[in-house]
Amino acid sequence: MPAAIESGAMDLGMTADDIYENTMQIAWKFSDDIADPKLEDLYRRAKQNQWDSDEQLDWDQPVDPSRPMVNEEQSVYSRMPFFQKLSKSQQETFHAQSTAQLLSQFLHGEQGALLTAASVAHSVPDRCAKLYAATQAMDEARHVEVYAKYIDKIAIAYPISPFLKEVIDVTLRSGRFEKIMIGMNMVVEGLALGAFNNMYRQTTCPLLKDITFNVMRDEARHVSFGHTYLGPLIQKMNDDDREDLAQFAFEAINLIIAAERKGGGYGTAANRFDPGFLRVLEACQIDAEDFFAGMSEAAELGITTELPPGHVLAVKQLMMPAMVRVGLVTERTAKLFEEAGIRVNTDTAVLNAMEDAKSDQNVLHEESTTY
Ligand SMILES: [Fe+2]
Ligand SMILES: [Fe+2]
Repeated sequence: MPAAIESGAMDLGMTADDIYENTMQIAWKFSDDIADPKLEDLYRRAKQNQWDSDEQLDWDQPVDPSRPMVNEEQSVYSRMPFFQKLSKSQQETFHAQSTAQLLSQFLHGEQGALLTAASVAHSVPDRCAKLYAATQAMDEARHVEVYAKYIDKIAIAYPISPFLKEVIDVTLRSGRFEKIMIGMNMVVEGLALGAFNNMYRQTTCPLLKDITFNVMRDEARHVSFGHTYLGPLIQKMNDDDREDLAQFAFEAINLIIAAERKGGGYGTAANRFDPGFLRVLEACQIDAEDFFAGMSEAAELGITTELPPGHVLAVKQLMMPAMVRVGLVTERTAKLFEEAGIRVNTDTAVLNAMEDAKSDQNVLHEESTTY
């Protein structure tokens, strides 16, 4: 690294977590070898559906951080016997802080998505995919802007979870556009689409609902890009290349699942190894050991797997069927998933309903939700 850059980074107090060198493919190739009308259509709609957050959102809507931002009755925590024994004030503080911690993960995920989208624009060897990736970079810039602005309003910020950071870094360091698209457009954005959907349905804050509605319209397009572009490419690949990508897909998903299992959160953002989440518990004066024992008890009672209507399980209903659909679960990796205890779900019903196939708003009307 040139000395000037190194000292510049040090001046800003950066660590190896903040800045690192990475080799990646740069493709100076604007060919139409992979001319695909579906991709052209996606790019056209990405252009048409750009929006300006200053015009689209009413930022003057009052946000009262002392009031719950989510419907507590829909919260999985409210159904836990351990949680019900806490004082009313502890319960309210927990809902406020844990929602803020989740919103900070939305922001950090968007920051990572901005970096990966820009990387795809650099490295994908195809005209339309480059142009599309550039629209996604702009979308992600807007998402960083709106979540940062909302977090400023509630004035409660949390650091990135180490597991989210790890999966984004593994993706960025992979150096190949196919892997960056798998790690971001299929894994992280699958997670995000599920989390945004659940927040959209659960929040009681009109501004947060509006923000999430508009962000989800873009995200549905991003998930669609992974499918539209990678699907035909993977079909044409030789077995070795396909296995290499399938292995990467398995490792990225396994990383998330292993962190979730080890962390004892049973599908929630709670994690005993996430310093940010431990800060949430501290703010509510809840003992971490008691909390995670309460989570285990709730899981044994089947409480953690009961979802409110319209909520989705991101890994099972979005990520796994998306991987299967593009041919990224091979006979070999199906065994790896089985050994890791991760079910390979092939049911694409929820994915199809949420993905942006034709309309940018097909899933966001709560009344007409079919899942
Ligand atoms: Fe985004
Ligand atoms: Fe995105």
